[in-house]
Amino acid sequence: MKEYARGARAEGRVLGLVPTMGALHEGHTALVVRARQECSRVITSVFVNPKQFGPNEDYKKYPRDLEKDAEKLAAVGVDALFAPETADIYPDGFRTYVNVEGISERLEGRSRPGHFRGVSTVVLKLFEIVLPHFAYFGRKDAQQVRIISEMVRDLNLDAEIVVCPVVREADGLALSSRNAYLSAEERKAATVLHRALVAARDELSHGARDAMQLQTAMRRILETEPLAQADYAEIVSADTFEPVVRVARPCYAVLAVFIGKTRLIDNLLIEPVSAGSEDLLFHL
Ligand code: PAJ
Repeated sequence: MKEYARGARAEGRVLGLVPTMGALHEGHTALVVRARQECSRVITSVFVNPKQFGPNEDYKKYPRDLEKDAEKLAAVGVDALFAPETADIYPDGFRTYVNVEGISERLEGRSRPGHFRGVSTVVLKLFEIVLPHFAYFGRKDAQQVRIISEMVRDLNLDAEIVVCPVVREADGLALSSRNAYLSAEERKAATVLHRALVAARDELSHGARDAMQLQTAMRRILETEPLAQADYAEIVSADTFEPVVRVARPCYAVLAVFIGKTRLIDNLLIEPVSAGSEDLLFHL
């Protein structure tokens, strides 16, 4: 892969990387479509990265279907599929990790210790192998892309990070490879994540600025769904992912919820409208 990337760079190609763990859906292909618009060589990696799964997580049963993935990628015009073996990425004796401190310990990092260390490490390795000018990530994993952006800045990496919007089903459920685990009943219940996020946004648009009030609105919705068990539901700064007391700047409503045994995450970027524009709306 590195030879291919070096060759393409030497020819003056603009390289775009879309890193994935496979079981591809339209959330992934939307990243590819965006990369296709901006780059002359688009590479998608498919690698279920063992280092970002905890010992009791779903590494073994994570959905894998490389043939189907390859078909989907061909249909959206990917130039190269990079699907390395685990031993290629982590040869015997591997012991070098990269960790973005602080932010990696919050939210997803608190619930999944070591998760972001695994993510940052594999993404850095992918960047070194694929040599992308641009790398495409979904806002579905907002904390992840923030951590990757910090790593790029801190380590003076060449790749420019492009953040793409969350792709959702018609009923609001964010597309995720893990949705495949849901039974029909659980699939219906899973809409509660988006409904809870929208409740926080509605509370904000009705004038609430107190983060607790928004959090309560989310929890109230989550509690209506018997199959749902919240791990966290918080309002955090979109910049630092630290909790906020008042929503005065762009924030994320973020949540992780078990639907049965399946753990799903989602988020919504929420912003207070400025006092000026609120007045304007009022007079209209
Ligand atoms: P994976 O979960 O396969 O996701 C790959 C990329 O697709 C991520 O950038 C993710 O945010 C994006 N994505 C997933 N669902 C999406 C949706 N509904 N809308 C928009 N984008 C979506 O994230 C990972 O893999 C891994 O941690 C990885 C970065 C590949 C490192 O192993």
